[in-house]
Amino acid sequence: MTELVLESPRARGLFVLTAHPEGCRVLAQRQIERAAAAFEKPLSGAQGKTALVLGSTSFGYGSSTAIALRQAGFERIIGIGYETAPAFRGEKLAMSSPGWYLTDTLHAGDEAFQTYLGDAFAATTRDRVVADLRAQGVAIDLVVYSVAAPRRSHLGQEWNSSLLVMGEPLEVLGLAYKSGELEPIRVEAADALAVENTVRVMGGDDLEMWVSALLYSGLAAEGMTVTALSYIGPELEPLRRMYWDGALGAAKKHIDATTAALDARVAASVGGKAFTVMNPAVVTAASVAIPAMLRYVSDYLGCDDAGKGVYADPLDIGIDFTRALYGEGEPWRGQLDEAGRLRLDGRELEPGLQATIAELWSEGEPGPPPEITAQGLKRFKREYAMLYGWQVEGVDYSAPYAVDPELGEGQRVFDLLG
Ligand SMILES: NC(=O)c1ccc[n+]([C@@H]2O[C@H](COP(=O)([O-])OP(=O)(O)OC[C@H]3O[C@@H](n4cnc5c(N)ncnc54)[C@H](O)[C@@H]3O)[C@@H](O)[C@H]2O)c1
Repeated sequence: MTELVLESPRARGLFVLTAHPEGCRVLAQRQIERAAAAFEKPLSGAQGKTALVLGSTSFGYGSSTAIALRQAGFERIIGIGYETAPAFRGEKLAMSSPGWYLTDTLHAGDEAFQTYLGDAFAATTRDRVVADLRAQGVAIDLVVYSVAAPRRSHLGQEWNSSLLVMGEPLEVLGLAYKSGELEPIRVEAADALAVENTVRVMGGDDLEMWVSALLYSGLAAEGMTVTALSYIGPELEPLRRMYWDGALGAAKKHIDATTAALDARVAASVGGKAFTVMNPAVVTAASVAIPAMLRYVSDYLGCDDAGKGVYADPLDIGIDFTRALYGEGEPWRGQLDEAGRLRLDGRELEPGLQATIAELWSEGEPGPPPEITAQGLKRFKREYAMLYGWQVEGVDYSAPYAVDPELGEGQRVFDLLG
């Protein structure tokens, strides 16, 4: 193993190339501790169960849901994520993903975790996971679909997703990450092909294939629950146009249609259920990439700091998810909306908070943003850095740490990409 001092990240634009191993370890450990405190006693409905979490390896919704499920009593977590090993240029660290260090931490000292590093969209990944589950005699009680990807290949075809709107182009004041100023942005309109391609990547095709594979191979446990994480967002017009009414929303509507169809199938086959889960907006790489989202999430964080709303991070939502599904009295039944989706986005959509955000948007002029937005952006930047293990309180960035911990079969990690 190589020990190095990493004082600051290598980055290309906003894209952070090198994660900090100790920062990621500390963050993951804190999440485990928070989840353990939330579930002082295991939930009886969760005990002994096995989850398949697709998209489990970044500091996003998949891993935090997995951590919460485990602390609530799940016996086994089968994770899948797209991660590659740290890479060097000469003696220097050239690339390292937070997912590598997060996976290392989750696996160290907890045999419940079994992770596949591979392309979830590839039939070979699915075949391998199914073969291993068969050999181990393990059936799946819960599927959590949390993949977020820019492209997908299937049977020799490749699709790219896009962040475009429908109808007329959208012109709006966004927030510039670097300068922190409000500035006009223009989002072009998608044509039918761009929408179709986005649906093929971020829609329900892949989820449908995973669930079919479990059903056909007899690996769906009695009562299996299938969930797909999604986002609907506020009614604030630019956000609605950008997301739910845009190309991405078309894909998310396809997810809704897929879970509705799967609900009937898993009910008939194993007495199970399937639904979409509407999660709130959180700080991720996607929030920087999606136009207008950075301004909106910064407003949300700023409002939380100013006591005008409550921000929930992915672990809060992972805990809410676990309680909804496995808490006493099947709480999820009372948390479905009229379309049958589990709603965990109540804090974000709280009317008072939304009214404050709408007011901030109605007043904006190009240039310095309102104080709440500026404060929110500061916090956004800190939380964004933390997704890569940087700016984590209590970590000594002048000390050397092992930057290439081994993840292999000994750690129950199966690298299908290497
Ligand atoms: N970020 C938000 O604000 C937000 C809000 C509501 C809902 N959601 C939804 O939650 C889900 C997860 O989003 P996130 O923000 O946690 O994303 P993320 O980028 O943090 O995590 C995505 C995961 O998918 C994995 N992945 C990507 N491509 C893959 C591939 N080809 N094969 C295997 N794994 C692959 C990554 O390795 C990672 O583990 C998405 O469906 C997203 O729409 C996100």
